[in-house]
Amino acid sequence: MNNVNVGIIGTGAVAHEHLRRYREIHNCVVIGVFDIDFAKASLFAKTYDIPLIFNSLSELLECSQICGVSVAVPEQLHYEVAVEVIRSGKAILCEKPLTIKSSESSQLVKEVQTSNQINMVNFSYRRIPALQAAHDLVDDGKLGKIKHVEATYLNGWLTHTVDGNWKKLPHQLRRLSTRHGSFGVLYDLGSHLIDLVTYVVGDIINVKCETKTLPKGKVSKIDDYVFDSNDTALIIAEFRSGALGSLNISRWGTGHKRRIRLNVFGEHGALEIETEKSENHINLCLEKNVLDANFTSVECPPAPNIYELFIKGICDSIQPKPSFIEGHNVTKVLESCYMSSKKNEMVQIKY
Ligand SMILES: NC(=O)c1ccc[n+]([C@@H]2O[C@H](COP(=O)([O-])OP(=O)(O)OC[C@H]3O[C@@H](n4cnc5c(N)ncnc54)[C@H](O)[C@@H]3O)[C@@H](O)[C@H]2O)c1
Repeated sequence: MNNVNVGIIGTGAVAHEHLRRYREIHNCVVIGVFDIDFAKASLFAKTYDIPLIFNSLSELLECSQICGVSVAVPEQLHYEVAVEVIRSGKAILCEKPLTIKSSESSQLVKEVQTSNQINMVNFSYRRIPALQAAHDLVDDGKLGKIKHVEATYLNGWLTHTVDGNWKKLPHQLRRLSTRHGSFGVLYDLGSHLIDLVTYVVGDIINVKCETKTLPKGKVSKIDDYVFDSNDTALIIAEFRSGALGSLNISRWGTGHKRRIRLNVFGEHGALEIETEKSENHINLCLEKNVLDANFTSVECPPAPNIYELFIKGICDSIQPKPSFIEGHNVTKVLESCYMSSKKNEMVQIKY
């Protein structure tokens, strides 16, 4: 099979993960990068021995050797960069959330439908084996009608130093500050959680959301990073199936690096995922165990990750998921949550 040459736009924190994952794929080569900060792109290219450093977005997009592109710029810039990538005719893997506004994500869906390019959103947790198993079990009706959902995404970098000292990291400081484009933990971690919950349980049709911005010690800003974007969001979600759920998202997950937990309770069974314990195991309460109120841990088969699906999609010309359509649906839910938190009322999501 021929090599698939890839470019990365934005060489900040998450770009290292893109590079690492692409390098694990035998027929994929990252051949070029672009960052608005040329020195940053140069250092990235030098570190990883990447031959091409572009001076502009258009220069990268004009490079005929590149057929797929990762968009890893801050979320408020996804739209303007993604539009250019799609119009250049290259396949696109865009970071999450697809966009901030649903008017933008809707336009991106139209653009990819017109250009017919492979398009994906990097909802990375979607592909963990336990989540794939959860999706298949619910889809096969093994849990019966879903009645209740509990989902959590917590991280704790405000209180730990495992990922470095946030007070000295611009990519963490910008997440706390609206003037740097942040829509808070709601959009940042919430986009992952909404994607994985809806993947398993189906569309959310109504949300009631509350957000909070809590003090971070004695200072309310560092340089021009004013700490005013939300760091906790609680969502009550009603699913199309009739089930009700709670989504709990916070940067105040003291003691946790990344805690994702999903509990789905149905008429005939229940499932539980706790990624910090294992991404490859699911706790199941099915059949006889329902009467005994007992869970057993089951190992899940491996699943290809997003990057592997993206490269395979380019090779086979088959559109993988999560695509921009799912990305658009997540943005609609996020936007409705944001609106709900501002208006203090339940908001209906229109599909
Ligand atoms: N999927 C995941 O699990 C995951 C994890 C972390 C971050 N993300 C997402 O990745 C994106 C980037 O996050 P990050 O933490 O790497 O941020 P970052 O601030 O570390 O990196 C962003 C980079 O984009 C560059 N940039 C800014 N404007 C640009 C432009 N117009 N053109 C080209 N480059 C530009 C910046 O110079 C910077 O190097 C965000 O959308 C974030 O939500 C996803």
